[in-house]
Amino acid sequence: MVTVQLRDVAEGDRERLLAWRNSPDVSAHMYSDHKIGHGEHDHWFDVARHDPRRRYWIIEVDGQPMGLANLADIDLVHRRCAWAYYLASPKVRGLGVGSFVEFQIIEYVFGQLHLNKLWCEVLVSNERVWRLHELYGFQREALFRQHVMKQGHEVDVVGLGLLASDWDIRRDAMAERLRAKGYAIPPTARQAA
Ligand SMILES: CC(C)(COP(=O)(O)OP(=O)(O)OC[C@H]1O[C@@H](n2cnc3c(N)ncnc32)[C@H](O)[C@@H]1OP(=O)(O)O)[C@@H](O)C(=O)NCCC(=O)NCCS
Repeated sequence: MVTVQLRDVAEGDRERLLAWRNSPDVSAHMYSDHKIGHGEHDHWFDVARHDPRRRYWIIEVDGQPMGLANLADIDLVHRRCAWAYYLASPKVRGLGVGSFVEFQIIEYVFGQLHLNKLWCEVLVSNERVWRLHELYGFQREALFRQHVMKQGHEVDVVGLGLLASDWDIRRDAMAERLRAKGYAIPPTARQAA
């Protein structure tokens, strides 16, 4: 059993985030796979990261920084936001860490931000991840054909959305699933928020 925590990104994460984002294990699943230079990264780190419509957390596994989770396009008018995440090393994938982070992010979006919808986009080839989202109650809302260029080829993208009402139905089953894997999930986290 591993301990998983989300903490705010800090100055000390600057270099590691650039290295993670440029690693083939991460960039393979992102929209852009060009090599990000220090200028582009520093702009993101110093400016874009502080955009109030975004939030970034480091995923820590047993106290070690292992990945990034973020919210984007936080829209208080339409009460929705987008999200994405990654674990930098394949060695910590497949252990249930991602599922736990997914649960925490969903709880935060509906329980603390009080938004109505969480949505995301996933490369159609990344079937493991869009199936994971579907398990959590996300519904496929779009198939964007030839939406991004990956290594010179047009790639389709799946658009998925989770409503607060979908989560009301799904939450208990997902909490039970995580508890069975040894994660501590409070019974009424959302109501208590
Ligand atoms: C997406 C990501 C964060 C998920 O985290 P993770 O810790 O690997 O996910 P989990 O271990 O919780 O596994 C989630 C589910 O994926 C499936 N899964 C896990 N390992 C798998 C494997 N080796 N093969 C197929 N499916 C697998 C299972 O359904 C699993 O749930 P279950 O074991 O409870 O049945 C991680 O895989 C990752 O960083 N991927 C690369 C970046 C990425 O694709 N990000 C999303 C872009 S939008």
